Amino acid sequence: MVKIFLNGCCGRMGKAIANLCYNNPDYKIVAGGDIIENNTYDFPVYTSLNECTEEFDVIIDFSNAKAVPTILEFALNRKKPFICCTTALSDETVASILKASETIPVFKSANMSLGINMMVELCKQATRILYPEFDIEIVEAHHNRKLDAPSGTAIMIANGIKEEIDDNVEYVYDRHSVNKARSKNEIGISSIRGGNIVGEHSAMFISDEEIVTISHSAQTRDVFAKGALTAAKFMAGKEKGYYTMSDVIAQYIGE
Ligand SMILES: NC(=O)c1ccc[n+]([C@@H]2O[C@H](COP(=O)([O-])OP(=O)(O)OC[C@H]3O[C@@H](n4cnc5c(N)ncnc54)[C@H](O)[C@@H]3O)[C@@H](O)[C@H]2O)c1
Repeated sequence: MVKIFLNGCCGRMGKAIANLCYNNPDYKIVAGGDIIENNTYDFPVYTSLNECTEEFDVIIDFSNAKAVPTILEFALNRKKPFICCTTALSDETVASILKASETIPVFKSANMSLGINMMVELCKQATRILYPEFDIEIVEAHHNRKLDAPSGTAIMIANGIKEEIDDNVEYVYDRHSVNKARSKNEIGISSIRGGNIVGEHSAMFISDEEIVTISHSAQTRDVFAKGALTAAKFMAGKEKGYYTMSDVIAQYIGE
């Protein structure tokens, strides 16, 4: 059984993880952290991290970008693996997470879904085969409450594709401000916002004769919660270092 400290436990993702862990023999949340007081869980919720005395194997964080430096310090003090799922982090915070990986095991992914991370691997393979003959365009769609565009996941897919291309790749976001024909080294990234869409991502590889589309559709937030728990199992007992979902996927493809 993996014992978890869950930061941001009162939020949407926190609740999804708490639900999946309830009466689950593989995972136990032993304590949580949030700025909201909560006594409805079967574990204590701390608004001040240094009051936590429980022992745990990993920390899962789904909170807020501003909260990450504090929970990272907590992970360093307790010398425990830190799984950072919070997004929209500043460059400074990303750098301090990287630095922390020299001391403790750290896991970071802008999208904890196993399916999306497999999609990135498939897009990398497709790029190796189809670029430069095929133009590459990414389209993403999310609910109407999402603040950032494009999604961190669309960027993650683009970055994966870019790794496979020797040319100097340029990202072109939407196309309204660019009145010129597309050049070969572009990856177009376009966003749609509406209703309650959990998360749709498509990577299109387009030639003059055919179109290959690799797509992923998240049906519920539980995909991210389940991915975070898979990461928790993967990280429990790991050595210091920087890990991502690619390391989890590598177990399945035997790299
Ligand atoms: N990596 C992924 O796959 C993935 C998936 C979904 C969401 N996210 C990210 O996870 C984060 C949380 O998402 P959410 O939908 O649950 O948001 P949410 O707003 O519903 O929940 C965030 C929770 O964090 C708490 N919080 C805020 N400041 C805090 C602090 N200083 N210390 C402790 N807790 C604090 C809030 O009170 C709230 O309960 C966001 O950054 C979101 O973009 C990542």
